[in-house]
Amino acid sequence: MPDQRRRPTGRSSPAVAKLGNPVPEPAVTAMFDAIAPAYDRMNSLMTLGRDAGWRRAARDATGLRTGDAAIDVACGTGKLAALLAETVGPFGRVEAVDLSEGMIARGRRVYRDLVQLHFRVANALALPYADGEFDAATIAFGLRNLADYEAGFREMARVVRPGGTVVCLELSLPRWRTYARFYHALFRRVAPLAGAIVARQGGAYRYLPDSLDAFPSAEQLAATMRAAGLVDVAYRRLTTGVVALHRGRVPLRG
Ligand SMILES: C[S@@+](CC[C@H](N)C(=O)[O-])C[C@H]1O[C@@H](n2cnc3c(N)ncnc32)[C@H](O)[C@@H]1O
Repeated sequence: MPDQRRRPTGRSSPAVAKLGNPVPEPAVTAMFDAIAPAYDRMNSLMTLGRDAGWRRAARDATGLRTGDAAIDVACGTGKLAALLAETVGPFGRVEAVDLSEGMIARGRRVYRDLVQLHFRVANALALPYADGEFDAATIAFGLRNLADYEAGFREMARVVRPGGTVVCLELSLPRWRTYARFYHALFRRVAPLAGAIVARQGGAYRYLPDSLDAFPSAEQLAATMRAAGLVDVAYRRLTTGVVALHRGRVPLRG
């Protein structure tokens, strides 16, 4: 993945730190508990089925191999965690953590045959795992929900061994400004509408474009990963830039 050191497309300098979601954690968790039964259908509908390919790209970016250990943070219903589990195989190990019991309950049910995959309720900002326990950590469409993005990356980096990878898949704003504005306006209308139809949770899905408003550009996110101590940070834009895939490496101690 080439490091794209282009000018930031966001509002301010890429050196900005301490970005985070202002919505309190209990409210975020309650929202995901409420939409859990419809989440997967919503995801496919709102991304026109592209989300599966994006998660495969995230899995590929980890560089995981048979027998490795990985953690998927803010795992939701476990789609990326299951891909990681298939990659590491039955002699590997994948921990999937999320604050929402409702989201996790679905993952546990759907992927009960993957013996190497374990779900656990835990906060991304205080992972209940030892330093360097994993070969890779991933977060897909979860970072935007955390109270402190840099702290989220720092915590993922802590539980990954030196030389291991941290991967982040997130919604992003396309670089071309007119398209970005169009996409944003569309998203603002479609998200609550789709939410209302599928989940009868229109209010909850309005949260999505609101959280996108406050989200950093791909370059700012890369700067946040570097500020969290990750090295060799690189990213690429997927599907005309509506999603960005970031990868960093935990530095070798020396
Ligand atoms: C948009 S969903 C993404 C789920 C999944 N990773 C995917 O790819 O579909 C965001 C998830 O982040 C979880 N979340 C939000 N804040 C969290 C936190 N502080 N710690 C752990 N999980 C959190 C939510 O409960 C929700 O399941």
